Amino acid sequence: MADVTFTVDGKKLTAPAGTLLIDACRTSGIEIPAFCYYPKLSMQAACRMCVVRIEKMPKLQTACTTPVTEGMVVATETDEIKQARKATIELLLGNHPLDCPVCDAGGECELQDMTFKYGAAESKYVEIKQHREEQQWSPVVYFDRPRCILCYRCVTVCGPGMDVWALGIQNRGVGAVIAPNGQDHLNCEECGMCIDLCPVGALTSGTYRYKTRPWEMNHIATICTHCGDGCKTTLGVRRVNDGMEIVRGDNRDKSGINGDFLCNKGRYAFDFANRTDRLTKPLVRQPDGNFAEVSWDHALDFAAKKLREIREAKGGQAIGVIGSNRTTNEESYLLQKFARTIVGTNNIDHHRTADYVSFAAALAGKAGRTASLRDTLTAPAILLLGNDPTNQHPALAWNLRSNVRLHRARVYVANHVEIKLRRQAKAFLQIPQDGYASLVQYLAGNDSAIAANDTTAAFRDALRKEESLLIVFGSEFRGRDIQALVDFGLSLPNTKFAALGDYANSRGAADMGVLPDMLPGYVPVSDAAHFTDEYGAPLPKTPGMDLLQMFDAAQRGDLAAMYIVGSNPVSRFGVDPAVLKNTFLIVQDMFLTETAQLADVIFPAANLYEKAGTVTNTYGDIQLVKKAADKAGVRTDFELIVRLADRMGADPKKLVPFGRGVTADMGQSRGPESGEADRHAVWLAANRLELKLSPFDPFATLDEIQRLVPSYHVSRLELLTGTEQPEKFDLVQIQPAGSRRDLVLPAEDTLFTSGTLGRFSDMMKAVVESHTTPNPAQTAAD
Ligand code: SF4
Ligand code: SF4
Ligand code: SF4
Ligand code: FES
Repeated sequence: MADVTFTVDGKKLTAPAGTLLIDACRTSGIEIPAFCYYPKLSMQAACRMCVVRIEKMPKLQTACTTPVTEGMVVATETDEIKQARKATIELLLGNHPLDCPVCDAGGECELQDMTFKYGAAESKYVEIKQHREEQQWSPVVYFDRPRCILCYRCVTVCGPGMDVWALGIQNRGVGAVIAPNGQDHLNCEECGMCIDLCPVGALTSGTYRYKTRPWEMNHIATICTHCGDGCKTTLGVRRVNDGMEIVRGDNRDKSGINGDFLCNKGRYAFDFANRTDRLTKPLVRQPDGNFAEVSWDHALDFAAKKLREIREAKGGQAIGVIGSNRTTNEESYLLQKFARTIVGTNNIDHHRTADYVSFAAALAGKAGRTASLRDTLTAPAILLLGNDPTNQHPALAWNLRSNVRLHRARVYVANHVEIKLRRQAKAFLQIPQDGYASLVQYLAGNDSAIAANDTTAAFRDALRKEESLLIVFGSEFRGRDIQALVDFGLSLPNTKFAALGDYANSRGAADMGVLPDMLPGYVPVSDAAHFTDEYGAPLPKTPGMDLLQMFDAAQRGDLAAMYIVGSNPVSRFGVDPAVLKNTFLIVQDMFLTETAQLADVIFPAANLYEKAGTVTNTYGDIQLVKKAADKAGVRTDFELIVRLADRMGADPKKLVPFGRGVTADMGQSRGPESGEADRHAVWLAANRLELKLSPFDPFATLDEIQRLVPSYHVSRLELLTGTEQPEKFDLVQIQPAGSRRDLVLPAEDTLFTSGTLGRFSDMMKAVVESHTTPNPAQTAAD
């Protein structure tokens, strides 16, 4: 839309015609107070807090409902306006209990801020307060009715925002109250968005309420550890006896890839980190079959000695390594380097939740064809094939709903079940569970691939007319089917693609080469020259055993040892414990999982909230992970891999190139390069970065990843300042991988499960809805 020019408080501003005055002012740094208005949600004009004076208009106007027009002259802070706002606050305080000292929102309350600003210290209303007891609407949502200022943000975020419609308004006028549509409880997705948007302390969080105050916490922005969307979450942490405890999760400043959104897992399911049954001491199995707590030295020495002996006696092929979907990129990378250079094997794999290898092969050499999560919020047309984003990718579901609502995006959905997102779809096709490949053939022009009818024909016709389609597909697509889908997409103009996988760093594990046949960046193991130079050691060139082959080999007695980092394959793949009875098992984990119970040595490990590094979401957005919490007794997977390697006789400096380019000149040398390192050190300090002088510094490994993996050649500065960097996936150059064995096993998590972590989240288990989803104890875990 064309720009218009107008004046606010004497300043000339321009904005596209039709922009709401409140948004135009905020963009220009002129703050207009608002309670009922919330960007991108429907207008309410209920609170009158945003009133401004517009020249030639008889009365004060609400900035939240007035579009800017050419020549408009606006005043936002005159005495008249201040008086009006003060009167509004007096009204709002009519029933308000003024219990700020105990209210959870104290210190973060928009009403409190406005009361300070406009000085409405007293209410002229002397009627008896309409007091109501606090209500618990669900284990995670509480409602304190007297504090509610009836702004309706909660109703609109739950309705149009979440498409859940769990909240409504009862009664009229002064008797109006917010209430759950399910009578006295919420039957909903428990996302907590209503709590987040509530400008006062009327809605409070069951995991946080009355625990602490905002100024008593540190607020650390990091990435959610649950699904593959990789939302930014801000963790509120405070010091406790054995470290730093997480007390709250929210997306406080609404920044990052997910903007306003967080789902229930990102917001509440951090409590696994605080559990008392976490492993905090290394355990070694004794001759009597029981575990004994031992020192770190003993456990590391014992494990390293055993691995070294097996390597020397039987070769690296007798050892298997299994990585994780939740460790950082640096840890995954380090693990594959450990397996290949120190153990000397390509027997390395992880639980694959999407076929990223085939996706990379299908897009080899095609620039700019992968979509970021942000693209799903703005793409004019989206084809969603398979998956159920409401359950498995809640941020994607939020983006698609918002895109339809705000930009009238056209969403086409084909699925074998009637997923909730069909409600936003321009067209929905229900197809047989095994019908995805046939549907793609049909879309590509093979009329006999399915029994077509008018609906399918209209679906195809509409898609073919799209000029900028974003194709998002679930793990229903693998191998050659991905190639066929990409070929179809590329027959349309400007198509982009996204492959959906589960868990926080499934994509990163694949990108980093935690695969038996692929090095980092999907380089086949037969083509290792590039890596050999950097690693300074020859790498095994024949593909190793995949995850299932490793368990088969263990059963045959051909796998003498296994090193399992942050995953639970025994539960996930239903491995019979007897299979591992002759295999020396080292497990690194947070809990005594089904896999850990079979181990000979267990190292207590940190989780994603307790470490630094990067992760890559399923769309290829690389993001920075910051250490927020801490637990005495645990160590990061990164440190554990380095320590084990060290005790196996490896040179840690070869494994982690720490100090590279920095230790060479710390100010002592006086050659032609003198001063370089000093300047570098000053620059690092000015940018609050640290010198890489520790073998446990994951950023030294990130340097190496960026040197060796072309798709990770992204701006380090942007990454470090918290802006996600889309992976340059198009730079991958590999051969089609249609003949590879299909080992993809989707997690099939719901909104209320999250593999092993979900099983250790009491809050997740407490929500009523989780009991209507598969029993988490029987849910496959990772
Ligand atoms: S928690 Fe989410 S789904 Fe439930 S009422 Fe609040 S906004 Fe609606
Ligand atoms: S509960 Fe909070 S968000 Fe909902 S109407 Fe009341 S004040 Fe507004
Ligand atoms: S959508 Fe996924 S990444 Fe985002 S908060 Fe929820 S579980 Fe975490
Ligand atoms: S913010 Fe404009 S009327 Fe409430």
